[in-house]
Amino acid sequence: MDVIEAMETCSAARYLKPDPVPQELIERVIYAATRASSPGNSQEWDFIVVRSPETKQKIRDLLAPRFRERVGVSAGGRVTNRMIAGATHLAETLHEVPAIIFVCGPVAYPPNAPLEQFVWSALYPAAQNLIVAARALGLGTTFTTFHMFMENELRDLLGIPREVKFGVMIPIGWPQKEFVKVKRKPLAEVIHWEKWRD
Ligand SMILES: Cc1cc2nc3c(=O)[nH]c(=O)nc-3n(C[C@H](O)[C@H](O)[C@H](O)COP(=O)(O)O)c2cc1C
Repeated sequence: MDVIEAMETCSAARYLKPDPVPQELIERVIYAATRASSPGNSQEWDFIVVRSPETKQKIRDLLAPRFRERVGVSAGGRVTNRMIAGATHLAETLHEVPAIIFVCGPVAYPPNAPLEQFVWSALYPAAQNLIVAARALGLGTTFTTFHMFMENELRDLLGIPREVKFGVMIPIGWPQKEFVKVKRKPLAEVIHWEKWRD
């Protein structure tokens, strides 16, 4: 699949089939993630893949009630009821998704004076590569920050040390619904040729 086509149809897949995803495909999307750029090619990223039914159930049981409590609190702007319904469904059914990938990384760049902002600058491009590669393989993902609802508990559950930050939590599986073209602002609204205003 053409990479631009994969990007323009990489819609958030919040309804996933429980059917397993072969390990080689999980490794393939993580391979794509690790082709991303990072500051100084530091590559300070780690990927935790959770497939164990018990662990997924624990994560779901931590997330679902907290998400229910908070849903809509930070909503606004372009958030639609459909999005909220989808995110709620994903949170409630997290134990049924075949795998959850946590994109994490330590505050380690630059080595002589590490800054937290560099963690995000490595983890987000990697996560974006991952979701686009998944789309190209027909796999559905959603870029989520669900981990924010339960970070301390997740650290204990997954054995993630304090110095390692959570970037993105990505449920992955075969989509129940068709991918659709994503709706984004028109180019003319976001391109500034030469300077901010004419
Ligand atoms: C940093 C970031 C955090 C996000 N967090 C969540 C989330 O916690 N839950 C969720 O369902 N979607 C999450 N999303 C997905 C966006 O809501 C989604 O991409 C957006 O609504 C546009 O939908 P589309 O990509 O299907 O066009 C997140 C996306 C980004 C980039």
